[in-house]
Amino acid sequence: MGKVYVFDHPLIQHKLTYIRDVKTGTKEFRELVDEVASLMAFEATRDLPLEDVEIETPVCKTKSKVIAGKKLGIVPILRAGIGMVDGFLKLMPAAKVGHVGLYRDPETLQPVEYYVKLPNDVEERDFIVVDPMLATGGSAVEAINSLKKRGAKNIKFMCLIAAPEGVEIVKEAHPDVDIYIAALDEKLNDHGYIVPGLGDAGDRLFGTK
Ligand code: PRP
Ligand code: URA
Repeated sequence: MGKVYVFDHPLIQHKLTYIRDVKTGTKEFRELVDEVASLMAFEATRDLPLEDVEIETPVCKTKSKVIAGKKLGIVPILRAGIGMVDGFLKLMPAAKVGHVGLYRDPETLQPVEYYVKLPNDVEERDFIVVDPMLATGGSAVEAINSLKKRGAKNIKFMCLIAAPEGVEIVKEAHPDVDIYIAALDEKLNDHGYIVPGLGDAGDRLFGTK
């Protein structure tokens, strides 16, 4: 069964407070999402394998560690997932970026896929799917389905805020996927919004609505 990690790091929790705050404008919201994505990426890459290399310091020859040529892919769920990509790439500049476009039908709350573009070597890569919100779980489940259908084998899912209902749905549909969350909130409201949440992540990131 996949594990669920809820990050309690003070820096993440602090920044999340301002992300949630309705008074936070688009520019600051975007910057904060970027910073939290970097902090989460730092935590979520703890298990990357290392290998020894020989180097020479100004003092002597020595063996030291580097990341063992792992091929990584970051996959934002469009639109709002885009806000988390740069934060990841600051730490993992060689990662490739795929895109899965989904929107949630406002009536049925079901995800509708409109775009998929992944790196060619899907089968050889480890993927981290990113989206600020895990609400009903429909979008995350569908995005992970989309990657698996194309051959991806090792997938993690990372979001800023999750509803307990959504976490259960993803665990059930994809028991092999570890889930990384900055905050696990109370519930969903009747419109499928996370409570207390942060509102509409896409609109707040891109200044729409
Ligand atoms: C939001 C969010 C997730 C989805 C989560 O996207 O960014 O992708 O809702 O909801 P779910 O867990 O109930 O599927 P939205 O559908 O609003 O699209 P947008 O990013 O294009 O605004
Ligand atoms: N999508 C959002 O952007 N916010 C929510 O609270 C739920 C889904």
